Amino acid sequence: MSKTITPLIAGNWKMNGVSASLAELTALGQALTAGPAPRAIVVICPPATLLAAASAHGASSGILTGGQDCHPAKSGAHTGDISAAMLADAGAQYVIVGHSERRANHGETDELVRAKAEAGFAAGLKPIICVGETEAERDAGQAETVVERQLAGSIPDSEATFVVAYEPVWAIGTGRTPTNAEIAQMHARIRGVLTARFGERGASVNILYGGSLKPSNAREILAIEHVNGGLVGGASLLAKDFAAIISAV
Ligand code: 13P
Repeated sequence: MSKTITPLIAGNWKMNGVSASLAELTALGQALTAGPAPRAIVVICPPATLLAAASAHGASSGILTGGQDCHPAKSGAHTGDISAAMLADAGAQYVIVGHSERRANHGETDELVRAKAEAGFAAGLKPIICVGETEAERDAGQAETVVERQLAGSIPDSEATFVVAYEPVWAIGTGRTPTNAEIAQMHARIRGVLTARFGERGASVNILYGGSLKPSNAREILAIEHVNGGLVGGASLLAKDFAAIISAV
């Protein structure tokens, strides 16, 4: 079933990047257009300040863009926030919602994440809805329970297209990853939850793996069943590394 899903490789630049960093995007575009066409949809989620420029930069080489977060409201008195419509206006096609750094640093609940995903839908964006357990939760044998709860609470009831990213919190930026068997088990579980809730549509949702994905482990992780791409942090900042992950698909 997952074989028919076009993989998606998304780079999350987090709070990294100034205008000079667009050179990496140029280099990435050159790498992608020099070789055989990538077998994945390629998305870069730069900081909001670079979104419009990154969208323009990526257009010629097929690199799509996404925001890293959005406010659930369309507009209004929300100083410092950004709406999904603004991201779309800046050229984004995707928006990451519910990243564990936002859940941890900004106290985002499943309910809020769901509202943000709905705002993304309303603006015509594809939300990349993030879930993942902490190390303590995994050690306590609760990883699947936690992820199931997050999926149930964070994904809106909608006909619109969305993406799920499984990012174990303890694997983010640590160089540690779950075993292939652990990734396979969790992704199969997520697929089960999606098909139980959305039927056939749930069978075609991209389920991304994220957390210390890098050129040296991309090939084996991206080959695991129900892993339909990756959400890449640190290794997306350098075109050479990100291109290597894309070509591992
Ligand atoms: P790293 O690839 O740096 O571990 O980050 C993963 C991540 O959080 C992507 O959203």
